[in-house]
Amino acid sequence: GAAELGPYRHYMQKEIFEQPRALADTLEGVEGISPELFGDGAYRVFKEVDRVLILACGTSSYAGMTAKYWLESIAGIPTSVEIASEYRYRDSVPDPKTLVVTITQSGETADTLAALKHARSLGMEHTLTICNVSTSAMVRECKLAYITRAGVEIGVASTKAFTTQLAGLYLLTLALALVRGRLSEKQEAAELKALRHLPVALQAVLALEPQIIAWSEDFARKENALFLGRGLHYPIALEGALKLKEISYIHAEAYPAGELKHGPLALVTDEMPVVTVAPNDALLEKLKSNLQEVRARGGQLYVFADSDTHIGSEPGVHVIRMPEHYGSLSPLLHVVPLQLLAYHTACARGTDVDKPRNLAKSVTVE
Ligand code: G6P
Repeated sequence: GAAELGPYRHYMQKEIFEQPRALADTLEGVEGISPELFGDGAYRVFKEVDRVLILACGTSSYAGMTAKYWLESIAGIPTSVEIASEYRYRDSVPDPKTLVVTITQSGETADTLAALKHARSLGMEHTLTICNVSTSAMVRECKLAYITRAGVEIGVASTKAFTTQLAGLYLLTLALALVRGRLSEKQEAAELKALRHLPVALQAVLALEPQIIAWSEDFARKENALFLGRGLHYPIALEGALKLKEISYIHAEAYPAGELKHGPLALVTDEMPVVTVAPNDALLEKLKSNLQEVRARGGQLYVFADSDTHIGSEPGVHVIRMPEHYGSLSPLLHVVPLQLLAYHTACARGTDVDKPRNLAKSVTVE
């Protein structure tokens, strides 16, 4: 009811603002990096596996796509990410030395549970879940688990569950890196420090809300939007587009920035805002030629720039600068303004933000 909402208009807004607390709770008690964070016997499993298969749906699958970048670059372990509803029905090549990782807020998503069982039926017994509900079917079904402490999430569009999943997946990456001899004590200390600073860093990002509200007024009048990201931030662009379509009903698509010229550029007109996520200076150089093309077509660019980039606002280019540069953990910060952009755009359009049409919080039937 209204009392629980406090100063917020919707649960989604409340949950976006709860993220510093949700992350602090999720990381509470993590004194050091160790496989045992994932349960008894995790060391033996982590020693045995030589690849990771991530299974999830919706927003949770974008957390998985982000983790693939971490797992390959930091832990050096080959990783694939599959949409659960696809994996469960396709012929794939099983490998018993795979760590099967499911990611699910609810722990009850029918397709993700079925995908897990399918993997097991193919002889893959090493199972781990990143889940927000400790009593869920998924936690019962998996041998290992990391329970995120986002708290109950009411808004259908997932926000705090996503950022806490990313934190859990980052811990998993570090634990696998440790077992594989790729994490020195010095690196471990630096990583823990960066993780512990996340709640404060997130608070600074939330303070960008007034600037994002100003942008949302432009977006509310559009029917389409394009989101661009590269590398670690490509899944964040996907998540930004998903949030916008789920709650504002604006058609949105995400592309890796380098693909703009291979198709979506044909869609750019003055009616198509182009959101770019996290360009560092290297990306900006490449982006500038795309930018000319976007602007030649009257397109408007909305850039969430890293703190140390040199791009400035000019006609046709709107820039919001992120407070801090955050290295590998940057996706946890960059997703937050995209959540706020979707939220305020939906508010401006007057949609039912917490219960968007046709969608359910958890999909427990196929
Ligand atoms: C539904 C929700 C999404 C969620 C997805 C997966 O579609 O609306 O917000 O990402 O299910 O849910 P899970 O509980 O498995 O993370």
